[in-house]
Amino acid sequence: MKFLAVGGGGREHAAVEALYRSGAEIYSVMKNANPGIISKSKEYLLCDEKNIEKVCAFAKEKGVEYAFVGPEAPLEVGIVDALEKEGIKCAAPTKAAARIETSKTFMRELVKKHDIAGNLGFAHFDNAKDAEEYLKGIDHEIVVKPVGLTGGKGVKVQGEHLHSFAETMEYINEIFDNNIGGAGVILEERAVGEEFTQMVFVDGKHIVPLPLVQDHKRAYEGDVGPNTGGMGSYTDANHLLPFITQDERKAALSILQNIVDAMAEEGCPYRGTMYGQFMLTVNGPKIIEINARFGDPEAMNVLPILKTGFADICRMMATGTLTSDVEFEKKATVCKYVVPRGYGVKSESGHEISVDEEAIKRCGATVYYANVDMKDGKLVTGTSRSIGVIGIADTLEEAESNCEKALKHVKCDAIAIRHDIGTRALVQKRVDHMKALRSA
Ligand code: AMP
Ligand code: GLY
Repeated sequence: MKFLAVGGGGREHAAVEALYRSGAEIYSVMKNANPGIISKSKEYLLCDEKNIEKVCAFAKEKGVEYAFVGPEAPLEVGIVDALEKEGIKCAAPTKAAARIETSKTFMRELVKKHDIAGNLGFAHFDNAKDAEEYLKGIDHEIVVKPVGLTGGKGVKVQGEHLHSFAETMEYINEIFDNNIGGAGVILEERAVGEEFTQMVFVDGKHIVPLPLVQDHKRAYEGDVGPNTGGMGSYTDANHLLPFITQDERKAALSILQNIVDAMAEEGCPYRGTMYGQFMLTVNGPKIIEINARFGDPEAMNVLPILKTGFADICRMMATGTLTSDVEFEKKATVCKYVVPRGYGVKSESGHEISVDEEAIKRCGATVYYANVDMKDGKLVTGTSRSIGVIGIADTLEEAESNCEKALKHVKCDAIAIRHDIGTRALVQKRVDHMKALRSA
C-alpha cells in the first residue's frame, strides 16, 4: 500500500514507523527534516504541511492510495477534503469533522445537543466585556481556553495558573487583544480528579479502543508550571491505569461512541484516530477535550506495542470497514520527552543534539525524533519538543528504568526533561489522589 504521511513530529515518526513495519511504502511531507521519518520514507517533501496544493500535487505525482495526517493544523485547513477529491482515501477527518478539535465550542455544543454524558458547564464569548459579566455572576472555579487551536498551550486553570478575578480577566483580555486561537474564549467549569487519555480508531461508525495513557501537560516536575503539548506519558501492561476501573473506562468509551454517532447524524462522520482527554472525577469521566488525531506524546506509547498492521488499520478507518481485532502487546511503556530548555515559556532552539539509537535499543527503549531539523549536516533542536524516548517492558517500573537508562544516550547542552514521569512515586501520588477524592 502506498501511503502519504503528513507531519514531522514525534507522533508522526511513531506512525511512520508503524506503517513501515506493516509493509507500507511511505511518501512523507513535513516542514522540518525529521531524520526518523526520512529514513523510513521512499521519498519526502519539505514544505508547510498546510500548503494543500503542494501536498496534493506530491501525493498525486507519487500515486499514493491512502493518507495518514498527524497534526491538527492541516486538518483545520481541509487537507483531507482536498486529498479525497483526488481519490486518495484518508485515515483522518475532514475539515468539518475536525471541528471536534478545532473549535472547543463546537465540541461542547455537540455533546450538549445530543445529551451525551461527561460534559462540563461552559460559556462561549466573543468579547472580554461579556466574559467579565459572566465571571462576576459565578461562584465556582473555571478554566479559560481560547476556542481555536493553540498547540496545547493556551489553557489556564483558576486555582493553579489564575489566582484572582483580576488575573483571570487579564488573561481573557490577553486572548482577545492578541487574538490567540482566533475564535474567542470559552470558560469551562473546572473538573477535579485524575486525567487520562482514551484514544479510539474510528471508521465513521465503529470505534476500537487503544490502551489508556496518562499524559503530563505541566512543564515542570511535580505537575507545576505552564501547560505544554505534553512532557511525557505512560501506559500499563493491562492497558488500564492504576487509578481507574474497567467500568469507568467503559463510560469514557461510551462517551466517544456517542460522539461518533452524533457526528454521523450531523452529516460530518468522523474517520481516523479520535483522542479523548478525560478527567476522572468522583462522578465519572468528564470531557476535557476531544482531538481529531493521535495524542502527542501518547502515540509514542501505543504505536510501538501495536501488533496489528497499522497500514491495515488505516485502510479500514479510511474505507469504513474497521473490525475489532486490533491487538496491542501487554507491555507497559514510559515516554519522556526531551524538550528545549525554556519550553513552555520561551524555548532556546538551534542547539546541536545527538542520539545513539543503537545504545537506546540496548536499554529496552525506542526513540522518536520530533521537532528537530538538519542544519549544515548537524541535528539541531527546534522550539518545540525535540526527542521522545520510550522505555518498554513487562512492568511500569522496568519501563521507567529503561527509559531513564536510554535518556543518557541523548546529548545536548540546552534541554529539559521531566524525570518524574512514570516513577513509582508520581504514579502512587495519582492513585492516592483518586482514593482521597473517592472517600471524601
Ligand atoms: P487542554 O489543552 O484542553 O487539554 O487543557 C490543558 C490542560 O488544562 C488539561 O490537560 C487539564 O489539565 C487542564 N484543563 C483543561 N480543561 C479543564 C477543565 N475543564 N477542568 C480542569 N482542568 C482542565
Ligand atoms: N498530549 C496532548 C495532545 O496531543 O493534545
